[in-house]
Amino acid sequence: DWIMGDYISEAVERIRQQVGDEEVILGLSGGVDSSVAAALIHRAIGDQLTCVFVDHGLLRLNEGKMVMEMFAGQLHARVIHVDATAQFMGQLAGVSDPEAKRKIIGRAFVEVFKAEAAKLKAGTGGHKGATFLAQGTIYPDVIESGGAKSKKAVTIKSHHNVGGLPEQLGLKLLEPLRDLFKDEVRQLGVALGLPPDMVYRHPFPGPGLGVRILGEVKQEFADLLRQADAIFIEELRSTIDDVSGKSWYDLTSQAFTVFLPVKSVGVMGDGRTYDYVVSLRAVITSDFMTAHWAELPYSLLGRVSNRIINEVRGINRVVYDISGKPPATIEWE
Ligand code: XMP
Repeated sequence: DWIMGDYISEAVERIRQQVGDEEVILGLSGGVDSSVAAALIHRAIGDQLTCVFVDHGLLRLNEGKMVMEMFAGQLHARVIHVDATAQFMGQLAGVSDPEAKRKIIGRAFVEVFKAEAAKLKAGTGGHKGATFLAQGTIYPDVIESGGAKSKKAVTIKSHHNVGGLPEQLGLKLLEPLRDLFKDEVRQLGVALGLPPDMVYRHPFPGPGLGVRILGEVKQEFADLLRQADAIFIEELRSTIDDVSGKSWYDLTSQAFTVFLPVKSVGVMGDGRTYDYVVSLRAVITSDFMTAHWAELPYSLLGRVSNRIINEVRGINRVVYDISGKPPATIEWE
């Protein structure tokens, strides 16, 4: 709309003023904030921006492909896709403690990003070298950075708004979303042409599927979980509630699938199966500090369960998590 258009031209002008003819690096996570920051900065300075997309192998089904299609394919932004799956999996092998897993993922993320940023800082073919690091810091991040509120707050910050990184890399900081609330960031994203489905997505934790595979993370588990989760999300999006006219995806605040590394017995055809279990988790919350489990329709739960068991070889049982927060947390780890 008109006001948003105005906002965009002012923001674009500010970025151009600040950056001049210098070059900018931005870490793209696939999340809303970094995506909107990238789209805005790209609008302002085009090829003076290079995005670095670190894929830790713990993203959802096709997420890496979608990020690349959107930024490289549609926006024609310079994006470097770093597939660091092997590195992350290697470092996670044998580790089952949730906080230890978070630390490893956060640390590996910074390592990989730093290595790419150092290359870009040095400059490559026709590029003289970056001097700015852009981050998708939004206003609530600025306020919160006063103190850690939860057991996970420190990790959340060290993973997302990589603290101290600009100084370590000797780069200046560019944070064009610093004054905006989440909802304004979303509106800006849509106005910049990002797909509404992407901009209005449920939150996804930085450590990704790493904290949704209980205990040790294995490639096989990640692959099974990705398929099951994609089915759950697809059914949530396509099932419309008669009363509100909204999809169950939009009626829930966060919904996902958790992989349980336990096997249980089942029957299929005339054979006995002995396969893994997944749990569906869907919550309704306004602040994520407390949450109710979502009263999803039985018909929807039934469809999801049938599809997962029939379509994902290796999973033969689906359960639904009916725990509130507190005492349970939203994630299982
Ligand atoms: P819990 O499980 O603590 O989750 O009830 C509350 C919200 O925080 C998200 N979450 C994380 N986000 N890094 C993140 O970026 C993390 O390590 C992390 N742990 C939990 C969770 O998805 C939910 O939205």
